[in-house]
Amino acid sequence: MSDVSTQLLDATRTGINRAAEILRGGGLAAFPTETVYGLGADACDGRAVAQIFDAKGRPAFNPLIVHVASLDMAQDIAVFNDDALRLAAAFWPGPLTLVLPLRPKANLSPLVSAGLPTVGIRLPEHPVAQQLLTAFDGPVAAPSANRSGKISPTSAAHVAAGLSGRIDAILDAGACPVGLESTIIGFDPMSTLLRSGGLPVEAIETCLGAHLASHSANATPNAAPNAPGQLTSHYAPTAALRLNATTTRKGELKLGFGPDTQADLNLSPSGDLVEAAANLFQYLHRLDAQNAPIAVAPIPAKGLGLAINDRLTRAAAPRP
Ligand code: TXA
Ligand code: MG
Repeated sequence: MSDVSTQLLDATRTGINRAAEILRGGGLAAFPTETVYGLGADACDGRAVAQIFDAKGRPAFNPLIVHVASLDMAQDIAVFNDDALRLAAAFWPGPLTLVLPLRPKANLSPLVSAGLPTVGIRLPEHPVAQQLLTAFDGPVAAPSANRSGKISPTSAAHVAAGLSGRIDAILDAGACPVGLESTIIGFDPMSTLLRSGGLPVEAIETCLGAHLASHSANATPNAAPNAPGQLTSHYAPTAALRLNATTTRKGELKLGFGPDTQADLNLSPSGDLVEAAANLFQYLHRLDAQNAPIAVAPIPAKGLGLAINDRLTRAAAPRP
């Protein structure tokens, strides 16, 4: 879809109802979640879902996450095993996506799961997302609301910069508090980390009382992913990115972490990984707008640092 006029909606009752109406009419509405902004469509409407791929310029093999208003709705769509139920009880609503066997009777457009027998499903915590999902009263397919391969949006302005004129509406509720996409867990048959994200792996392992298996598709650059979406170059700013930079080279902008007097922007001067996650995409957007190479300080690989390093590594990877 292109050349449509994109309405900017406030996150009031009226705005939320209007966004639900757009979804019911087969349109596309971007909405806030606690992780990043999602680009929503009715998950049962194949034409609407196809428009998501078109608006994002997204490769068709990459399946979408279904957002639901309740665990009941989730169980109508997917078959939960014991570990999945335990994780949902502990962390939903929240930044966690579960990949589970799809119930054929759920009636989702097959485009949502890109033809896979599984579906990624999530119950978001953001009150505006919850109000929208409750008002719509059905599953909403929503990838992050950015053009494919670009940095995920953590504000309505980021969504508008990438998708204005290509989608029907943007529901604006300010900045996303977590700032990183959800953590994705699969069960095939072991509980497996498919994508690190806004819920730390350590919390999941503590809840399950076991280590997560890890997923190796990351090792195959830009291959059609079997647990998809893990394209090596992703979240890419236009400018080059250099990781683990302790010094800055001529012409580079510095993205700092911890005490750093050279930093142009600092993810967290106090070294707090939660604050750094919340700032990551916003700061990449801001530095990218200056069109110069970016040097990024080392980030510790623990807690949310795993997800931050994952996104930075993809952003720095050679472009396909
Ligand atoms: O926080 C989030 O997860 C955000 C907000 C909007 O909810 N959404 C998001 O969606 O990040 P997206 O499409 O940008 O990333 C979804 C990831 C992709 O890597 C996709 O391949 C994977 O989830 N995924 C979805 N369904 C899957 C499935 N059935 N099997 C394996 N991976 C799946
Ligand atoms: Mg995305």
